Amino acid sequence: MIRDCSAIHRTGFTPNTQVNMVWQYDEEKGRIHSLYELAKAKAWNATTDVCWRDFNRTQSLPASLESDPLLGFASYEALSEDEKHHISWWRHGIEISEILHGEQGALLVASQLVACMPTVESKLFASSQVFDEARHVEFFSRYLQDIVGEIHPPSSELRRLIQTMVDDPRWDMKFIACQILIESLAMAKFQEIRQSTRVPVLAFAIDYIAGDEARHVKFGTEFLKGYLQGLSSAELALRSDFVLDNVLRLANSLNINTRIAEKYDWDVAALRHHLRQYRIRHPEINRNRFRQLLINLKAVGLLTERTQTRMLTMELLA
Ligand SMILES: [Fe+2]
Ligand SMILES: [Fe+2]
Repeated sequence: MIRDCSAIHRTGFTPNTQVNMVWQYDEEKGRIHSLYELAKAKAWNATTDVCWRDFNRTQSLPASLESDPLLGFASYEALSEDEKHHISWWRHGIEISEILHGEQGALLVASQLVACMPTVESKLFASSQVFDEARHVEFFSRYLQDIVGEIHPPSSELRRLIQTMVDDPRWDMKFIACQILIESLAMAKFQEIRQSTRVPVLAFAIDYIAGDEARHVKFGTEFLKGYLQGLSSAELALRSDFVLDNVLRLANSLNINTRIAEKYDWDVAALRHHLRQYRIRHPEINRNRFRQLLINLKAVGLLTERTQTRMLTMELLA
């Protein structure tokens, strides 16, 4: 039962969405088929395979202290230990809520891909991805409710990105946005969380989820590299621009420190300066965050000289 109607965002299927009905089933079984077999073999159960145990959040921070970019920021350091503890869990709740909503975005787009993909093999894999993303939604929503205690609404940047993907009538734009953009940044984010989390059930489930996401990325790169070879350089530029135009939107939605500054009435400019200095001292953060995207753009032939120049200008490359 839906209790809060404002929590529903209604949108219509775009009338010109490309749906491909394919009546040819004798394609040679290739790499996508092997990935589909792997997906069936590796399916896990978020209820019974994950060790859900009571976790007392009052006795632990959600992540290791060393990974906190707010350390050394005067307004943060002036808080009591209790307030810092509260902020850590509040920030963790927002961060994981963004991931949860992003997983629902991936679920919606993967379900559209079942209809839109142009081969039977890719439709079958996309159907396995739908079930994977459903488990991810299931895990993160239970984690937020049982362990963290609340689910925050999605940021406006994430809402817009999901809307863009769902509304775009072209299957390859949906595919590129989901498999290359979202999956690449999500994998980097999962690695970041896996290294710093202090919550056993989160570490446990991320190992399962990251395995699923790696398969989705592989599906994307395997399928796209053949398809994109047939496009003109203008068509390729349009697609790489689409990725880069949206990458900052997604990265900003995952960067929630300015939301904290607004909530606690801190000087946003001072916090931005502090975070910039932190990034300069830790260039590996940006490198790790965008490395997977770089690898995947290269794998599918979208990392042209022009794309690299744009990425440098946008400070996505360290
Ligand atoms: Fe996912
Ligand atoms: Fe995924």
